[in-house]
Amino acid sequence: MGRHYNSVVSFFFFIISFLITVIHIEADKMVPAMFIFGDSLVDVGNNNYLFSLIKANYPHNGIDFTDHTATGRFTNGKNAADFIVEKLGLSTLPPYLSLVSASNKSTSFLGGINFASGGAGILNHTKQFFISLDEQIEYYSSVYGELVKQLGPDESQKLLSKSIFGIVIGSNDMLGYFGPSSTLSQKMTPQQFVDLMISTLPGQLKQIYNLGARKFAFIGVGPIGCTPSQRSLNKTGECNEEANYWSHTFNERVKALLQGMKSENNDINYSFFDAYSQLLNLIQNPDAYGFTEAKAACCGFGNLQGPCLPISIYCSNRSDHVFWDLYHPTEAAYRIIVDNVFDGSQPYAYPINVKQLAAI
Ligand SMILES: *[C@@H]1O[C@H](CO)[C@@H](O)[C@H](O)[C@H]1NC(C)=O
Ligand SMILES: *[C@@H]1O[C@H](CO)[C@@H](O)[C@H](O)[C@H]1NC(C)=O
Ligand SMILES: *[C@@H]1O[C@H](CO)[C@@H](O)[C@H](O)[C@H]1NC(C)=O
Ligand SMILES: *[C@@H]1O[C@H](CO)[C@@H](O)[C@H](O)[C@H]1NC(C)=O
Ligand SMILES: *[C@@H]1O[C@H](CO)[C@@H](O)[C@H](O)[C@H]1NC(C)=O
Repeated sequence: MGRHYNSVVSFFFFIISFLITVIHIEADKMVPAMFIFGDSLVDVGNNNYLFSLIKANYPHNGIDFTDHTATGRFTNGKNAADFIVEKLGLSTLPPYLSLVSASNKSTSFLGGINFASGGAGILNHTKQFFISLDEQIEYYSSVYGELVKQLGPDESQKLLSKSIFGIVIGSNDMLGYFGPSSTLSQKMTPQQFVDLMISTLPGQLKQIYNLGARKFAFIGVGPIGCTPSQRSLNKTGECNEEANYWSHTFNERVKALLQGMKSENNDINYSFFDAYSQLLNLIQNPDAYGFTEAKAACCGFGNLQGPCLPISIYCSNRSDHVFWDLYHPTEAAYRIIVDNVFDGSQPYAYPINVKQLAAI
């Protein structure tokens, strides 16, 4: 009798503490879900599932991640996708391809999903090695179908209109154009190339809108000309000013495009983040942010050269470097960038930040 009573009581307390935990989690969650589209700045492992050379699931990537494991993130620890999701009180979004892999039956898209793929751009050259933005949107379209099937049209629209759609794209297009073996730069001027990117993007954003998205968080490109890959092309290791100019121009045009999109569809809210100005500031004033090295990559073959491979050398302190490899920031730099994406003010976060976007 006493024993029975005890187990009833402990079951009762179990239920209470379970409910408290659930309520606590619910209270910390600022939005029901996040859906991420983009490139290696936010890829959390989609490329692991592809036959591709653009992968990061080997050391020294992940050296500062949980258990020092290389997960497919192109950095030493967490990347921008991890930090933004953390800020929103959501749990880590799985890579889409991990959920659809045949062996995985635990598929749920209710908390969102990450479609981002290293190498992806707005335009689709060489798309066989990664999931292009257009293909990411096709995948999202099938996720949308699943949600409607699961929740019905009204509930799924409610969920999606409160969710945040993160888009981090454009760097690979720019790197492709300004890269060492670029054939694009022989075919068109940088102006024509940026025009092409900017004329392609609205159709892509419109498709996402038509599939329920109402809150867009767009992170613009950084100063592409100051990545170690671009500096290595210059004898004195300086930034490629032309690539920087067009990175900045691209961002300004995306900002105008989002503004235009909102004036046509008043139910959109968006936050645009000017990663160009933020990261350039960090590169020009590293001390102010606690960095001692803002030019060279941490992992590579030294002297701005070479990729981050298991045989590469790497710096002993990743927290004082801005760049992890030829293209990607370190976890320390991502952390600062995302702090500002989330909580920053104009002109970096325009017209509102992601925290404000989430609260709508
Ligand atoms: C299945 O999905 C879960 C949830 O994201 C993930 O943790 C796991 O790694 C996936 N399994 C496979 C085999 O991809
Ligand atoms: C990219 O490829 C898809 C499918 O192959 C196609 O529908 C789309 O128009 C292409 N986009 C661009 C910008 O070339
Ligand atoms: C190196 O960078 C400097 C500063 O931007 C520039 O003036 C110079 O032309 C560049 N050199 C090459 C070879 O690109
Ligand atoms: C979100 O969009 C609506 C409709 O355009 C607008 O009234 C509202 O002010 C926006 N919210 C914020 C925080 O900008
Ligand atoms: C690593 O760098 C960070 C940032 O500059 C600094 O605060 C920290 O003390 C350094 N750690 C070591 C072990 O030198």
